[in-house]
Amino acid sequence: MIDVQKNTTGQTIFYLTTKTVSLVLLVTESGIVLTPYWGGRITSQDISYVTGEITRASYLADADGQKDFKLEQLPQIYPAYGYTDLRGPAFAFLYADGSRTTDLRYASHRTYSGKEKLDGLPALRPSQDCQTLELRLADPVQSMEAVLRFSVFESHDAITESVRVANQHKTQSVRMEKLCSANIDLMDCGFDLLHLSGAWGRECHIRRRPLEQGTQSVSSARGASGHGHNPFAALVTPDTDEVHGEVYALHLVYSGNFTVSAEVDMHQNTRFQIGINPFDFSWLLEPGQSFQSPEAVLVYSGEGLGRMSQIFHHMYQDLLIPERFAKQERPVLLNSWEAHYFDFDGTALTALAAEAADIGAELFVLDDGWFGKRSDTTSSVGDWTPNEEKLGGSLQELTAAIEETGLAFGLWFEPEMVSPDSYLYRRHPEWVIQAAGRRIEKSRDEYVLGLSNPAVCEHIITSVGNILSQNNIRYVKWDMNRNLTNLGSTYLPAERQQEQAHRYILGLYRVLETLTHQFPDVLFEGCAGGGGRFDPGILYYMPQMWPSDDTDAVERLAIQYGVSLLYPPSVMERHISAAPNHQVARREPLETRAAVAMWGNLGLELNLVRMDKAEKAALAEEIAFYKKVRPLVQFGDLYRLKGLDGGNQYAWMFQSQDQKTVLVSFVQIQASPNTVSKRLRLRHLDPDAWYRIEGSGAVRSGREMMHIGLDTGKIRTDAYSRRWLLTRMDRASC
Ligand code: DGJ
Repeated sequence: MIDVQKNTTGQTIFYLTTKTVSLVLLVTESGIVLTPYWGGRITSQDISYVTGEITRASYLADADGQKDFKLEQLPQIYPAYGYTDLRGPAFAFLYADGSRTTDLRYASHRTYSGKEKLDGLPALRPSQDCQTLELRLADPVQSMEAVLRFSVFESHDAITESVRVANQHKTQSVRMEKLCSANIDLMDCGFDLLHLSGAWGRECHIRRRPLEQGTQSVSSARGASGHGHNPFAALVTPDTDEVHGEVYALHLVYSGNFTVSAEVDMHQNTRFQIGINPFDFSWLLEPGQSFQSPEAVLVYSGEGLGRMSQIFHHMYQDLLIPERFAKQERPVLLNSWEAHYFDFDGTALTALAAEAADIGAELFVLDDGWFGKRSDTTSSVGDWTPNEEKLGGSLQELTAAIEETGLAFGLWFEPEMVSPDSYLYRRHPEWVIQAAGRRIEKSRDEYVLGLSNPAVCEHIITSVGNILSQNNIRYVKWDMNRNLTNLGSTYLPAERQQEQAHRYILGLYRVLETLTHQFPDVLFEGCAGGGGRFDPGILYYMPQMWPSDDTDAVERLAIQYGVSLLYPPSVMERHISAAPNHQVARREPLETRAAVAMWGNLGLELNLVRMDKAEKAALAEEIAFYKKVRPLVQFGDLYRLKGLDGGNQYAWMFQSQDQKTVLVSFVQIQASPNTVSKRLRLRHLDPDAWYRIEGSGAVRSGREMMHIGLDTGKIRTDAYSRRWLLTRMDRASC
């Protein structure tokens, strides 16, 4: 809901209110837009006293010639640098005369139901109860305008924000050097900064540190959101855990270079920002041109991280991933990578598919190595022509043979890269990202195609599109195995070279928009050497992602816990892989590998042909169980019960939307001697309902399971797991 009021002193106040949250904006007489409040829901009363009661600090400049009107200590919605606020600004423009001062003041506003699309960028779709406030700010001296667009998702309990700036000067260009998607000033600094960090193979680990005076940030300058950090951070009160504490979270719907920062100033206020990384970024705005920022998602929770996750999950499940897949159950797939790597032929693939079909898989994914003359990483990326000699026939024939086993067929691509040893590179060396006069550095034996050039994007659309239209491909794994280095474009003029990284992402979005529209029934899965580009921007086009190349169940616990802070279960793909595991050589029991892989979309990635009968039978049982609970784990509500401390025990549970079924999983990583069994307490059950526990047949009340808990058993082995499937009993059968 958006409520606009004028108070007795003539100030305009905007109340942006969702189910449990309020964000209040206040326009001062001189047109500065303040944010007196963001937090738990309040009523639309005049709260101008909040900023009125801020006492005066020393050594700060007065603004507008008014004694004691000190911008630098006021919470603002989109602050500039240099007028009288000397903290980090939300934006920076360089004008033709060399001046850098911009002073954006309120000019007008409009509100409307729904939400407009963002030009060329992914963004949340409007919910039925979505309303938008557009605030137009202007600097008449420099003829600059910024439109801040807030969309309020009442029942989803979240707000999105994006910014569009326009150079309205008739003759002069402006160089934009920074543009945040959202800036929030909080009048406190008693927070921890919580974020998701890591590296290849150990993505999305939860990190947390107390704020200190100064600026702390997480960012990427890798050309992708990256393995290092997710484009997210939250300020959380020190008592925050899964159920307690206040959480102020920002997440960027963007797949390129980003920064999230928290600046604690000298008066213990915190400026919290998210947007495109200003490092090595600038954008030339010719007279009359405008620029649209990516969208930020603003989530407040007064009930810890669990509530924050519920809000993000429902937002992304309902309003971000392609609608076509939002409620569609995802297939149990077998991916050929860890079974064969590059070493396969058509016969081996068909044999693997037959085994997979036998134990209940539904889709076969042929990973890297099917095209050009590719038999290792050194060649052929870019030459998307099936290697018929290796496949033992055409791709159509292979697809038919796989379909004969009962499985659908999926295929791997890495469309944004090119091997130096490829026809494509020999034909178009100028298409590669390169700094003039310097060696083009390889990574995984690849160069990066410059997607800031529309001709490159067209080529990708055509080459991938051809394979998809000539073959019955139901799924695409879209991989991206390196970062952008030696930045330079043969296509962009000198004055636009710093636009390259953002233009790359805009090009990628255009390619994905086109292909996903052309092939709406193909299930696209995003991958970037694992979770190197796992972000809401990609999710807008691809309803599922591969979070890490680390398939080890124990390793996956921390990764999946971190991913689940933001992303709903149905977008995360997990595979049961071989023991010993290929990344860390650990051996874990199948039931634990399966339990962890059932934290969302279950798949397989191992050579079934080499497994013995008993193992295959056990795997078939796991898959059969999974199919029974699939709607529950893909579309139910997820609650994390243990693991926030990154310690020895993890537990999580799914509850169906109708609250009739609950799946609880528990894993202990290491056993220790001479221990006794302990109990796992559940949450969010109906205390007065009775539940039957599958297997034992025991009947327990919700109250008992929340207060007394379930017996986790005597633990004598490492990588120990247990799971419970609970069915709520109707009154008659109690
Ligand atoms: C990296 C991916 O993350 C893997 O799953 C696999 O597809 C390889 N690339 C193939 O080269």
